[in-house]
Amino acid sequence: MPKILIIGACGQIGTELTHKLREKYGVDNVIASDIRKLNNDVVNDGIFEVINALDFNQIESIIEKYHVDEVYLMAALLSATAEKNPAFAWDLNMNSLFHVLNLAKAKKIKKIFWPSSIAVFGPTTPKNQTPQYTVMEPSTVYGISKQCGERWCEYYHNIYGVDVRSIRYPGLISWSTPPGGGTTDYAVDIYYKALSDGKYECFLKEDTRMPMMYMDDAIRATIGIMEAPADQIKIHSSYNLSAMDFTPKEIADEIKKHIPDFEITYNPDFRQKIADSWPSSIDDTSAREDWGWKHEFGLENMTRDMLEHLKDA
Ligand code: SER
Repeated sequence: MPKILIIGACGQIGTELTHKLREKYGVDNVIASDIRKLNNDVVNDGIFEVINALDFNQIESIIEKYHVDEVYLMAALLSATAEKNPAFAWDLNMNSLFHVLNLAKAKKIKKIFWPSSIAVFGPTTPKNQTPQYTVMEPSTVYGISKQCGERWCEYYHNIYGVDVRSIRYPGLISWSTPPGGGTTDYAVDIYYKALSDGKYECFLKEDTRMPMMYMDDAIRATIGIMEAPADQIKIHSSYNLSAMDFTPKEIADEIKKHIPDFEITYNPDFRQKIADSWPSSIDDTSAREDWGWKHEFGLENMTRDMLEHLKDA
């Protein structure tokens, strides 16, 4: 069993990833960490350490303390928050990655998972079925940091033999932990508001199509790429990954099948421009062919599952 460290374990992805990894590898083999010690399952149900992802020495000492083999680096500022704090977003998103890459280069860890995003694409990228290899001119701080991160991952693999694996997440939708600061996050808020208020004001236009994925699929992809034999991983920057794509109007129509009186209104803000610069749909043939990626959730079964879980919560 590998010893695993998750940095950013209390975030939207980190929380569910921690649960799944503990279930799979055993509570004693998974070390969750975050910048703050909250009172939640991630902290209370297993090993937890406070780690500032920008503090190399702190990461190194936890890796030595627990003899960590693999690191999942989930700490980051997302797109909308990064636009408000560009210098800090660059610092956090880049330097946390360098710390972990350098620990792998020094052979203190064996394997890294680092998430990239559809934000690596930009306004000049082909919008529909965006290919793995294409024009990439990201126009957001977040996208620039992810694009540079991808280049560094590939560099560390090619030059130093670092085993780093990455996927370009689409917008991620989940019920257990609220997201923070993303442009795709309307697709999470809408479910909460549909149940609590029966209406939702969307910060994007009704026809803004974006690639999306349910968290269950995202976690399977994450663990799937990490468990794949090394010779199946042919792309060392980051893999396109896809499950579904929809517009605010289409998700609202799906919710109306369960909550007929649900109403949506549109009041686009600065996030519209970010969304407009991203793909509408993604071609993820390489992930499917190289390491067997397959999604399970589309808009219909995701909506059913989201509403059921949120009703019970
Ligand atoms: N979901 C992210 C965001 O909207 C994209 O990776 O920022």
